[in-house]
Amino acid sequence: MSSKKKTGNVASPALSGTAYPLIDHSFDVVVIGAGGAGLRAVLGTAEAGLTTACISKVFPTRSHTVAAQGGISAALGNMGDDDWRWHMYDTVKGSDWLGDQDAIEYLCRNAPEAVYELEHFGVPFSRTKEGKIYQRPFGGMTKHYGKGIAQRTCAAADRTGHAILHTLYGQALRNKAKFFIEYFALDLIMDSEGICRGLMALNMEDGTIHRFRAQKTILATGGYGRTYFSCTSAHICTGDGNAMTLRTGLPLQDMEFVQFHPTGIYGAGCLITEGARGEGGYLTNAEGERFMERYAPSAKDLASRDVVSRSMTMEIRDGRGLGKEKDHLHLHLSHLDPDILVERLPGISESARIFSGVDVTREPIPVLPTVHYNMGGIPANFRGEVLSGKNSDPDAIVPGLMAIGEAACVSVHGANRLGSNSLVDLVVFGKAAAIQCIETLKAGAKQPELTPDAGQSALSRLDRLRYADGDTPTAVLRLNMQKIMQSNCAVFRTGDVLREGQELIHEIWRAGQNIKVTDRSLIWNTDLIETLEYDNLIAQAVATMESAYNRKESRGAHAREDYPERNDENWMKHTLVRVNSVTYATEIDYRPVHTHTMSKDVDYIQPRARVY
Ligand code: FUM
Repeated sequence: MSSKKKTGNVASPALSGTAYPLIDHSFDVVVIGAGGAGLRAVLGTAEAGLTTACISKVFPTRSHTVAAQGGISAALGNMGDDDWRWHMYDTVKGSDWLGDQDAIEYLCRNAPEAVYELEHFGVPFSRTKEGKIYQRPFGGMTKHYGKGIAQRTCAAADRTGHAILHTLYGQALRNKAKFFIEYFALDLIMDSEGICRGLMALNMEDGTIHRFRAQKTILATGGYGRTYFSCTSAHICTGDGNAMTLRTGLPLQDMEFVQFHPTGIYGAGCLITEGARGEGGYLTNAEGERFMERYAPSAKDLASRDVVSRSMTMEIRDGRGLGKEKDHLHLHLSHLDPDILVERLPGISESARIFSGVDVTREPIPVLPTVHYNMGGIPANFRGEVLSGKNSDPDAIVPGLMAIGEAACVSVHGANRLGSNSLVDLVVFGKAAAIQCIETLKAGAKQPELTPDAGQSALSRLDRLRYADGDTPTAVLRLNMQKIMQSNCAVFRTGDVLREGQELIHEIWRAGQNIKVTDRSLIWNTDLIETLEYDNLIAQAVATMESAYNRKESRGAHAREDYPERNDENWMKHTLVRVNSVTYATEIDYRPVHTHTMSKDVDYIQPRARVY
């Protein structure tokens, strides 16, 4: 192991003069994040003999992939005909033609191999009678280019993410990856030429500061669901890698596209898998009507998520919601065979009991569209290389820096992700990033010495927040931010509401100057860590609101009532947003959508109206 420790180094940020004990490390590859994408990359590079570190703020098997329920898509054809080209068509259509079709081709073509690999690693998939991997229907997944429902989503009951994450962690350990657990990543180290040289991190257990030098740094830090008040995301989903990227001056991409999952448990926000509808569950309104038949006559409850979430919101707005406040709808499962509930949906049966007091064999679950996934993130190509967002060269990369998983915007999901395309994105692009490292790095290659001030800006920021002595506690600012995002950047949007959202979110952003942190300790200090996370979240909230205000069309999850149509002529382009938390400046730019596929034998799928 080439982790080189130099204890005894001390760094003093200019701001406070605080002396931080500094521990240096050197690896070929450092991966930040231990979810499905991070672990798949870690195991790939470690297996190939590259020294690999994985830095995670939580124990790896607590990463948010553990909460993924319904499954992982791949055209295996175990439960009827299937073809990866149909999967590609569905993904392009699901993305509302904002996805880059070369990357989508790569995803769908490589999905079956990625799932078989997981099977061989030991993932305990549910099985058909013949012993094949069980596959269920999911929203927007069809056969023959939209002419029937496909069973494409491979499942381990309704705990697929749990099964995958535990298996990948075991494999990463087996391949001798080095884990730095409960280390909080502070900032990237960029050199004067814009090359990423590693990162700075805080060991939350003992308060030491660690400087990691790496040939490649891979951000696999997940989404930023916690910018919203009600989300299915864990408290750890604060998009730390996205925010670190913004702080280097690089842009984020397509941040306006925030996915609402149709079935969060009303009041609690916990996920009820789309697999519940895949197994035959259906939604009703206060009149007991299966309203999805009106909005999506063919796919009904299995239309894509943006369509179902909008339909639900319209039912509630039209006064057909349930309950005293008429503010939610019902998901019915009680007509399903009880054996199916036990075998295929045990987790959500338990969640429904715990979080809504419902016995799914007898009663419907109260549900509401709930923030679930971020299509936007760090612009990256299909190899995992981060794009610099230069106008002159839209495909130019940032040397040394990579991004994968929900943190990245590759963009395979475009304006709307199909359910179960996330887990496959994690493992396909986690592996692609590992391949890219293997092909371009030499194990143990000498790395340039870091300049003496490398990492200083991370420590200055740490100091600024650690000693913040204003009068507004972090929790107050965070709650305000979450409420503004929830009400001003929701399922439906208008220019006026977004304009107000912009003003309000900028106010909260600036109010950060007056933030109050009560505990100065570096050891197990939740006040400080939540403040660092809030500082990350607020930059992404601003990025999201700005991007949403500026996109004057409706596409996928971005539904503008004042611009109700998709406008390919003017808006078939990716948003790039830069947010500067020192000057409070924001900048919007655009990058063309790739209108080519990867292989000559695969045709570009021409834009058309999107109906389900
Ligand atoms: O509904 C679900 O099980 C979620 C799956 C996904 O977001 O891919």
